[in-house]
Amino acid sequence: MTRLAVVIGAGGGLGEALSAALLARGDHDRVIRLSRRTDPPVDFTDLASVERAASWLSRQAGDIRLVIDATGFLHDDRFSPERSLRDLDPEHMERAFLINAIGPAMLMKHVLPLLPRDGRCVFATLSARVGSISDNRLGGWHSYRASKAALNQLVRGAAIELGRRHRHAICVALHPGTVDTPLSRPFSKSGLEVRPPSKAAAEVLAVIEGLTEADSGGFFDHKGEPIAF
Ligand SMILES: NC(=O)c1ccc[n+]([C@@H]2O[C@H](COP(=O)([O-])OP(=O)(O)OC[C@H]3O[C@@H](n4cnc5c(N)ncnc54)[C@H](OP(=O)(O)O)[C@@H]3O)[C@@H](O)[C@H]2O)c1
Repeated sequence: MTRLAVVIGAGGGLGEALSAALLARGDHDRVIRLSRRTDPPVDFTDLASVERAASWLSRQAGDIRLVIDATGFLHDDRFSPERSLRDLDPEHMERAFLINAIGPAMLMKHVLPLLPRDGRCVFATLSARVGSISDNRLGGWHSYRASKAALNQLVRGAAIELGRRHRHAICVALHPGTVDTPLSRPFSKSGLEVRPPSKAAAEVLAVIEGLTEADSGGFFDHKGEPIAF
């Protein structure tokens, strides 16, 4: 049976690198790249686009063996990560929750049921270590942190439901490490190990390869180490 891999957010720094790495590896017969600019588009500011894209995916020949959600939002022309509670802005929070939690949740709602019942398959969404509540010792970045924490919780719940119907399916949140992309560029401090997207993509794919069913619902870094929620 034809093996499909799907990358959502394929126009981003990590999404592009992950798509390229998957093509180069050749483990899948077809790598489907979806982004805001593809046909069909996936744009979380139009959540109906998620259901439409999932319906399109359901009509593609083959088994979806891997889905990587590489979407995410940290800053844009209007909003930068908050330094303190004083900077909290409900519109900034709405945007972060929409792109980092609600959009990926809708992806899980519509795409997880498309995974084959038999054999190994993986849904991995890119989260961030700063979404770990127990690891938060610095404060700040409230909207990003809280929306990624929400994402991690949604992944956990989705994995539990998924496991009831798809015994060999795996659903996880992954931290890709600090990667040189438009998302991180304004904030990468000296001292942090900033890696090129190609290296990060290879590491993320190696982590995915090593996941077992027992890991479903978990949160892992780019070395495959579990991150505490
Ligand atoms: N870079 C890092 O250091 C780092 C560290 C920790 C975690 N992460 C996480 O890794 C993931 C990828 O980040 P990146 O560094 O590759 O950032 P990026 O280059 O800014 O890419 C962001 C991605 O989000 C997608 N996106 C933005 N707004 C969207 C919307 N309204 N609807 C649907 N998709 C939307 C973009 O989709 P299009 O394809 O449509 O452009 C793009 O693929 C994010 O979840 C980020 O939080 C990154």
